Amino acid sequence: MRHDVKFSLSIDDIPKRWYNIAADSPVPLPPPHNPATNEPMDPKALEAIFPRNLIEQEISQERYIDIPEEVRDAYVMLNRPSPLVRAVRLEKALKTPAKIYYKREDLSPCGSHKPNTAVPQAYYNMKAGTEHITTETGAGQWGMALSLACSMFDMSCKVFMTCSSYDSKPYRRIAMETYGAKVYSSPSGETKYGREIKAKFPDTPGSLGIAISEAIEAAVTDPTGKTRYSLGSVLNHVLLHQTIIGLEAKKQMQMAGEKLPDVIIGCAGGGSNFAGLAFPYTTDKINGANIEIIPVEPAACPTMTRAPFSYDHGDTAGMTPLLAMHSLGHAFVPPPIHAGGLRYHGMAPLVCQCIVEGLFTPRAYPQSKCYESALTWAKTEGTICAPETSHAIADS
Ligand SMILES: Cc1ncc(COP(=O)(O)O)c(C=O)c1O
Repeated sequence: MRHDVKFSLSIDDIPKRWYNIAADSPVPLPPPHNPATNEPMDPKALEAIFPRNLIEQEISQERYIDIPEEVRDAYVMLNRPSPLVRAVRLEKALKTPAKIYYKREDLSPCGSHKPNTAVPQAYYNMKAGTEHITTETGAGQWGMALSLACSMFDMSCKVFMTCSSYDSKPYRRIAMETYGAKVYSSPSGETKYGREIKAKFPDTPGSLGIAISEAIEAAVTDPTGKTRYSLGSVLNHVLLHQTIIGLEAKKQMQMAGEKLPDVIIGCAGGGSNFAGLAFPYTTDKINGANIEIIPVEPAACPTMTRAPFSYDHGDTAGMTPLLAMHSLGHAFVPPPIHAGGLRYHGMAPLVCQCIVEGLFTPRAYPQSKCYESALTWAKTEGTICAPETSHAIADS
């Protein structure tokens, strides 16, 4: 008998609410600190960078937050709900008795999970009167997603792309430009900070921390006041939007006849796709379920497995608030590994809090092991996965 391997929901099943883990965390998240004083910060101070409606989500303690109908409509265009698939051929190749399921976030028009938050972020900015958005991108996936989202809501988009990826992934730049964005190789000549870094370190491969500093500078120095900055990972509201992945997965696992998974695995750069899948199940773990939850990172950028938990800046220039997180130091420039999206010095505070509380057990793997796993995946499941994703496969 042939078993079902693909579990698809209808568009009416697109979740109506995102899940906010801040409501269920056993310990409250340490608040962001003011970069100048290192004292807890008034969220109002963030309004130069982010619109107020997203700041409200950032600090919300509500367990569920309604997804606006316009965003649910846009999710349809992004091919949501994404299918849950059982990796039967991989299971056979691994000779494992385990059943392995995966979410096809690659089926969005940009090929990644990033539009899940790019679209609501662009929507809330549009509602708040923003006309231009600036951002950073590593591998280019986030830049592509935000470029598409800005074009959907009629805003302009400036993307600072780490120069190692700008050079090695030119097709991603072309895709962003196709959606109407302006893309700069970071460090760039476009900002004061970019010019300083270029002069000091002419051969730098760039880093997400540097690109974030440039994007924030470009937003806060716009004299019209109509520009805001958008971040593709790390922050609470970004992880909130990504919970659409895990909320769908829960319904689909039921369709597959499963109760709860034994193990959940995701790759983690800033933590958003991993948290998106894991958080809706983390609440079950908090309530006693026996689930092993594993974020995987590159050995070349070992934030969760090797770095201390402390307050640090999200960017290199020290413009962002200080966040309580595992951090390799905001000046850390990781080697130019192919998984450009996993080259971030910090990690989402909400993910770090779960690590501190013993809810997650992070792991790190070298690039070569991940690539071997990606080859096995390609030969069994048929897709050539992103270098980032190969880190999750390496743990299977
Ligand atoms: C395909 C893919 N996966 C994962 C990531 C890592 O980001 P995050 O940890 O926020 O999901 C990126 C970042 O660019 C990416 O492009």
